Amino acid sequence: MQTSADMSRATKRSSEIADTVNRIRKIEANQGVNPDALEAIRSELLKLAAKTELFSMDDFPPPPETAGNPSCLYLLSEDDDHRFALYANSNNRRYVNAPHNHTTWAVIVGVHGEEPNRFYKRTEDGGVEQTGSAVVRAGTGVTFLPDDLHSLDIAGRAPMLNFHMYGLAIPQLFKRQYYNERDHSWNYYPPHTDIRDMRVDSESAA
Ligand SMILES: [Fe+2]
Repeated sequence: MQTSADMSRATKRSSEIADTVNRIRKIEANQGVNPDALEAIRSELLKLAAKTELFSMDDFPPPPETAGNPSCLYLLSEDDDHRFALYANSNNRRYVNAPHNHTTWAVIVGVHGEEPNRFYKRTEDGGVEQTGSAVVRAGTGVTFLPDDLHSLDIAGRAPMLNFHMYGLAIPQLFKRQYYNERDHSWNYYPPHTDIRDMRVDSESAA
């Protein structure tokens, strides 16, 4: 049952998210899509992520142990034209994915737990080579231009929640590629199957 405290927290969360996304729209409008702009977007998301009282694991629980997928995405904001999509990624089990791009800009910042990222570049023979790594946790984040490659390797030893923001909503990203190291092929990602709309008023959310 929702209490009045739950409702006021949801309202406050909605307001903080809307303010953050407004600032992020302006950053992109003024600066375009480049490393400096993404750095500014990362700073905005870090300020939002620091408001941990609005983003508890209780409010954004990971899928149950019985679910097939160890993680789910909670949709926090998305414009009517599907731009500026902000998700909370919630996970509590091991999750590994292949090197992939996003075909739009992406910024990930930590709220709870740890999300190890690996970074890659394409090699001349059509494969990938790791260029670095970073663990996303509270107070840190990583940024990706549309063609940048990364993979996740989440240990799943503790619940994890972080923000994933994309220039365009995930269901609109039909050409995201991932690299299959077993047969050295590039393939298109299937759409994410577990996105839960958490907008307070999804009818009027913008
Ligand atoms: Fe990704």
